[in-house]
Amino acid sequence: MDGRDLLRSVKMVGSVQGMRSVRSAWRHRRADARELVPRGAERARVPGLLVSAEPEPGGGVVRFARSELRIRVAVGGAVFWSWDGAGPLPSYALPGAAPEPDTRARLEPDTNGGWQVVAERLTVVVSRHGAVELRTPGGVVLRRELPPRWWEPVAGGAARWVQRSEVPADARFFGLGGRAGGPRLREGTYRLWNTDPGGRFGPGDDPLYLTMPVQLVVSDAGTHLAFHDNSWPGAVTLREGEEGAGSGHDRPGACEVRMEGGPLRCWVVVGTPARVLRGWTALTGAPALPPSWALGPQHARWGFGSEQEVRRVVAGYRDRELPLSVLHLDIDHYDAHQVFTVDRERFPDLPGLAKELGEAGVRLVSIVDPAVPASVGNAVFDSGAAVGARGAFVRDAQGRPVLGEVWPGACVYPDFTDPLVREWWGSLYEERLAQGFSGVWHDMNEPVSFSAFGDPTLPRSARHSLEGVGGDHREAHNVYGLTMARAGYEGLLRLRPDARPFLFSRSGWAGMQRYGGTWSGDVATGWPGLRASLALVLGLGLCGVPYSGPDVGGFDGSPSPELYLRWFQLGAYMPLFRTHAAIDAGRREPWEFGPEVLGHAREALRERERLLPYFVTLAHLARLTGAPYVRPLWWGASGDRALRDCEDAFLLGDALLVAPVLEEGAVRRPVRLPPGRWYDTETGRAYEGPGQVMVDAPLSRIPVLARAGAVIPVRGADGAPELEVWAPRPGRTGGGLVVRDAGDGWGRAEPERYTSRLVAGRVVVERDGEKGAVECPVRVRGLAGPAQP
Ligand code: NOJ
Repeated sequence: MDGRDLLRSVKMVGSVQGMRSVRSAWRHRRADARELVPRGAERARVPGLLVSAEPEPGGGVVRFARSELRIRVAVGGAVFWSWDGAGPLPSYALPGAAPEPDTRARLEPDTNGGWQVVAERLTVVVSRHGAVELRTPGGVVLRRELPPRWWEPVAGGAARWVQRSEVPADARFFGLGGRAGGPRLREGTYRLWNTDPGGRFGPGDDPLYLTMPVQLVVSDAGTHLAFHDNSWPGAVTLREGEEGAGSGHDRPGACEVRMEGGPLRCWVVVGTPARVLRGWTALTGAPALPPSWALGPQHARWGFGSEQEVRRVVAGYRDRELPLSVLHLDIDHYDAHQVFTVDRERFPDLPGLAKELGEAGVRLVSIVDPAVPASVGNAVFDSGAAVGARGAFVRDAQGRPVLGEVWPGACVYPDFTDPLVREWWGSLYEERLAQGFSGVWHDMNEPVSFSAFGDPTLPRSARHSLEGVGGDHREAHNVYGLTMARAGYEGLLRLRPDARPFLFSRSGWAGMQRYGGTWSGDVATGWPGLRASLALVLGLGLCGVPYSGPDVGGFDGSPSPELYLRWFQLGAYMPLFRTHAAIDAGRREPWEFGPEVLGHAREALRERERLLPYFVTLAHLARLTGAPYVRPLWWGASGDRALRDCEDAFLLGDALLVAPVLEEGAVRRPVRLPPGRWYDTETGRAYEGPGQVMVDAPLSRIPVLARAGAVIPVRGADGAPELEVWAPRPGRTGGGLVVRDAGDGWGRAEPERYTSRLVAGRVVVERDGEKGAVECPVRVRGLAGPAQP
């Protein structure tokens, strides 16, 4: 027990839940001590010298004295390599089948006694000792994997391994899931183990709820994504390189991946950032398309406590003419915190409430926790016990259900790695739909078991189905949230095939975008928490999870009016725009911070409503191309090093640059511009990038700039669709994509492509392929004055 554990347990003792979490922690510790074989003596192994090689479709196998390396280039350009014979399947990240090999790529001898596979966008070079280099077609090294090392327990069991690699000295690291200290990942060790930080977190807390072994590396030589497909606990240690370090030589950047077990296999996708995300999405599946109501403003709170309070809050929005699309009910609407129940005293008629709110254009979303009260008589427990031959719940090595502690007390945990359990769990959402809910919010699915000390989750020795293969919690833990999301998504789809399931989940793993989005979790109220909110959304987007957003205002405590407003203004440009707070936190309604904040928040809400068609377009583009809505400034200019280091602004799609205020008291801020002309959308003033400019950021707004030539679908003053077009630079064309849809359902939505040009001082917009046919009103902006230097 370390000092932090001790403090935690001292704080917990005294409450009933605290006492139980002390007992539970001891129980878990004892189970692991009994069941997990101590590693004991180990044998280290490296691949040894190259022995032979054998071509296969898309690549081949290179044999070394003590291991073999398989390389396969897939159709679409992703490269797979693995050691010790591991194949791409089974994999929780891939949606089903692995992509076909690209038969044009072939293994051939190179001139240094090694072998290489030459593909369209990448050459993979294997040295005689088992180093693997990824080079651009021009021969520049993007990544160099040194020969791996394994440690095998002499008495048998999972081998742990380490893989070190080098990247160019100028490279920057991003990704690894949701990291509060990002988006640029500095030197340090990042654990791969989904973890509830307990209560609230700030930029220094790591790991958090959603980790993934996905690194996005950006350098002058190009961008690549490396995914170590392995769900075991591990850690990634990063060190940025240094140009001209010691005697004028570059010191490369370094990355070390360490895993406690599981296969050593990796996918790499290279290209521009857009191409990389497209390739990653092709590999792991397209992001689920949210219904358009999930792109509107949302309000949540732990502790509405009653139907009357829900009505009061919704009326507060309505009476002040503030748009509201969704209201979320937290665990306090459950009966004694039990999932899939309703407290009938405080919520006597939820379907009636849902209907009433629905008529006012407000949907209800329900929290869903995975843990089920371990008590006979609880309908979910009883029906779960009857699933398959062994019941639905995670068991220990002796076959007894594993108990944990969560809100309702002693709980059991569905084993979502079992297809039968997923099907059973998915069917339970019928009850939520019958209560009138339109979507779900998955929480506590790291999974959490309150623990006075040690890991606040299930014991590592707990057994899981892992799709029938069998294994323990070390392998299943990181995919618990992902497989729960799959169960929920597929269940909702079966129950309501015509509606797009709306689901977002606190925990997850690579590929979770197929089922929905995520949110920040319990981000600490304070200016550092505001900054962390942006870091999380940017980082997750680069890992292929485009739909997310923070708890606006922060989860705990009470933000100052200024902090609340700045959070609100940032949130208005995030895919998930939702205020939320803890049960004991201060208010979060926009009118609770005085008339000035209310006025500015109203503007932010109105702007969000006006941009709704643009958000719908971005949702479709994320689905079609993997490009996140919220992108780093270097998205289209990854060679610009100053942009790579810029962490306080972002692109919303191609058209807008948003520069939130992240510092207390700031009413002006520097904004770094990517190349091209950018208009301040408020003043119309034009700036030329690349470079840095100072822009006004009064309390009434955060700076938002539009790219010259951009065509943006918006809602006009009368609510009808309109195109907002920003004047292109003379001699340049601009444009944009627009996707319209019915708001829900599965109707095909084709992107419309528009081009903008300046002709004799006038802006002309055309729809590609249908000259002149622009069916909605066009509002031209940015024609006013000359460009500012
Ligand atoms: C933890 C979640 O992160 C938070 O959003 C929620 O309000 C509480 N659990 C209570 O359900």
